[in-house]
Amino acid sequence: MSLKPDSDNLKSTESPPGVMPNGAHFAVDVVLDTAYQGIDGKSWAALFDIARKTKLPEFIADLFAGKHINQSEDRPALHSALRNLSKSPVILDGQDVMPAVIDVWHRIDALCNKWIGVTDVIHIGIGGSDFGPRLAIEALAHVPDIESRGMRMHFLANIDTAELARILDRALPHSTRVIVVSKSFTTLETTMNAKAVVAWLKASGCTNSQINKTLFAVTANVAAAKEFGVEEDHIFPFWDWVGGRYSVWSAVGLPIALQYGFKTFEEFLAGAHAMDLHFKNAPLEGNLPVIMALALLYQQEKHGIKAYAAIPYADALDWFPKWLQQLDMESNGKSIGKDGKPVKHSSPVVFGSAGSNAQHSYFQLFHQGPEIIPIDFIAVRKPMSDLPEAVAHHRILLSNCLAQAQALAHGKTDSNPNNVYPGKRPSSLLLLPELNAFYLGALLALYENRAATLGALWNINSFDQPGVEYGKVLAKPIEKALASGSDHIDADDSIDAITAARINFLNA
Ligand code: F6P
Repeated sequence: MSLKPDSDNLKSTESPPGVMPNGAHFAVDVVLDTAYQGIDGKSWAALFDIARKTKLPEFIADLFAGKHINQSEDRPALHSALRNLSKSPVILDGQDVMPAVIDVWHRIDALCNKWIGVTDVIHIGIGGSDFGPRLAIEALAHVPDIESRGMRMHFLANIDTAELARILDRALPHSTRVIVVSKSFTTLETTMNAKAVVAWLKASGCTNSQINKTLFAVTANVAAAKEFGVEEDHIFPFWDWVGGRYSVWSAVGLPIALQYGFKTFEEFLAGAHAMDLHFKNAPLEGNLPVIMALALLYQQEKHGIKAYAAIPYADALDWFPKWLQQLDMESNGKSIGKDGKPVKHSSPVVFGSAGSNAQHSYFQLFHQGPEIIPIDFIAVRKPMSDLPEAVAHHRILLSNCLAQAQALAHGKTDSNPNNVYPGKRPSSLLLLPELNAFYLGALLALYENRAATLGALWNINSFDQPGVEYGKVLAKPIEKALASGSDHIDADDSIDAITAARINFLNA
């Protein structure tokens, strides 16, 4: 393992070749151009004032210093330590967390060299234990010349057995490895799917000792993983100070290292680390996550926007909006602030998919619908394949991306109202120099830090998710009622009349 010194991992902070357009900012080789946000100099100054008044600089310092900013759970949010390639001490409650983080890096690196003859990996996990690695595996598969072990990577998240059946149909049981990924190790989808996969291994003739060799876990609940039957040296820990949706930088990202090598995983961490250093140290006026957050706040104040879209003009990033949905909406989809009072703003609905496909779906509404929906256009300078057609196709991809932003900004008049485009529809352009592990890491960390910034501006704790629990609690008695097979279930304290009728219909 060669963890490079910090300075080698950091990309330049000088502007890229060419003249930077007005309204463009630059960090970690990523360009952010907000020229089409329609925010003038006076408004930007007012926004930075708001940031200072809400003590954003102090919040950023507290975030990296390991202060317990996740008040409700009395924890820090220290995912930045997981990508702290400088290895500088990160002190949490008097103890440096880096030795434990580095130990896991060494173990991941060692495992990469051990898996010879593995044809299939089944990664079992959901939510934050799924989106990040799934996105990275997909995105990096498109990098020309990437070194890949060529294993079939199967992601099993849904309790719906359709996903399980599809995977079991393709995987070769005697050369499969299984990684059970769950921060809590109590998530029902994950533990039930894990049991089903173990049963499949048994039914396929694998002995207990073969199954022991096959089974790995990544979790913050090591005791539960052991109880499940995973051998201690097959368990990769992470910690309660890492939120599930911020965990791809831990051993949750194991598939990235296993498929593309530890060096690629390290580059992924390096890109995120570089973005962290930028977020931590850059003045607010040149700070990419802060500028993006303030632009959104402006559109909330000015247009009362309730949704925004992230459109990557890169097929490799088709999973990015799904990852972003959990990041933004699980972090900031809350009505109550840190002071227990209702907040003025919180996370808009986030959606998106790869361009130019998205243009042929919901862009009609962006151009002519009554709602204003700000857009993050995400583009990549270099083509994502080395096919002979790559340059010509990529030019068309980029021209579509640029044209959409321009059309949305300016609109078009016409004597026929049907052909009028109102314009003044805000967007930003994020331009990555190329899509590789480094810039993927930088992109994800940019949005993570933007989510934290928005939480600070809105006075929301971005690091808990109490709203996901109630439905899980209610599912238990309902599951019991369904299991009873009775079509005479009465409403009670936990099942209301409408749901009882639905259960009775299903059981009849
Ligand atoms: O859906 C709620 C949630 O707790 C997410 O926050 C989390 O990413 C996901 O479930 C999976 O949780 P775990 O990693 O503990 O299985």
